Amino acid sequence: MSVRHYLSLLDLDRDEVVALIAQAIKLKTWRRNGYRPPLFSGKTLAMIFEKSSTRTRVSFEVAMAEGSGSAIFLSTRESQLGRGEPPEDTARVLSEMADAVMIRTFEHEMVERFAAVSRVPVINGLTNSLHPCQVLADLVTWFEHRGEISGRRVAWVGDGNNMCNSYINAAALMGFELRVAVPAGYEPAALDRAQRVTLTHDPVVAVRDADLVVTDVWASMGQEEEAAARREVFRPFQVNAALLAHAAPGALFMHCLPAHRGEEVASEVIDHPDSVVWDEAGNRLHAQKALLDFLFRVT
Ligand code: CP
Ligand code: NVA
Repeated sequence: MSVRHYLSLLDLDRDEVVALIAQAIKLKTWRRNGYRPPLFSGKTLAMIFEKSSTRTRVSFEVAMAEGSGSAIFLSTRESQLGRGEPPEDTARVLSEMADAVMIRTFEHEMVERFAAVSRVPVINGLTNSLHPCQVLADLVTWFEHRGEISGRRVAWVGDGNNMCNSYINAAALMGFELRVAVPAGYEPAALDRAQRVTLTHDPVVAVRDADLVVTDVWASMGQEEEAAARREVFRPFQVNAALLAHAAPGALFMHCLPAHRGEEVASEVIDHPDSVVWDEAGNRLHAQKALLDFLFRVT
C-alpha cells in the first residue's frame, strides 16, 4: 500500500472525512465511559515543532499515550533540523524508526518536501498556509452540536490566514457556504481555487444569517513584528455581541485558540454559551486519534 499523508484537508475525500468525524465522536463517547482502546499499541509518533504549541502537542501526545503508543517531541533548537539537516534526510531517518511524523513549521513547502520522501504518514500540525488538524476538530465540533454541515452558512471574520485557508478547503469538500470577511490586502491565498466562498471586506455582510461564526488571531506565529500595525487594521473585524446580533439565532462561535480577548474576539462572545471553543479544543484529541488510526490502517 502507498503511504497516505495529511498535509491538507483535501488529502481526504468527503466520505473519509465523514467517517473520521463519526469515529472521533465514537472515541469521545467511549473515553467518557472509561474505555480507551489501544489503537496505537507499539507505535511511535515523532513530532517536530518549529513553532510554539499547547493544544497540538498535548493532543497528539495524549492520543498516542491513551492508545498505548508513544510520542517523541523534537524542537528545532534541540534537533539537527535546527542546525541545517535537510527535511528529506530527516524524513528518511525518522521513517526507519517512527510510525508517523507530525510537523508544525513555517513554510508549507517544508512539509511537502518531507512527505515526498517519507515512508510513514506525515501529518501537518500547522504551516503558514494550512491548519488541517484544527479544521477537522472544528468539523467534529459542528457535527456533535448541530449535525450535517452541508448547506449551512459559515462566516470567517478576520485574517485570511492558515485557518481561513483550511475553512476554504472545508467549504469545497463538505458543501457549506463560506463568507470570508477580511481587511483589504489580507485576502486568503486559497481563495484562488475556492468553491462556495464569497469574499467581502464588511464583517456584517459575512455574519448575516450565519449558522457558525469563526475567527482567529490577527497576527499569526511568525508575524509578531506586524502585530501592532495589524491591531489597527483589524479593529473593525472584532467578533463582538453587536456583530453576532446579525447571525442566525443560536449561531455557534468557534476559535482555534489561543485567543486574545478584546482583540479579535470580545469576552462576551468567547465566554457566551453559544461559544463552543472548549469542545473545539478538546476535540483535537478525538479527531487526531481518528486520523492516526485511519492513516495507520490505510498505509
Ligand atoms: N489551535 C492550536 O493549534 O493551538 P496550539 O498552537 O496551542 O497547538
Ligand atoms: N493562525 C494561528 C493559529 C494558531 C493555532 C497561527 O498560525 O499562529
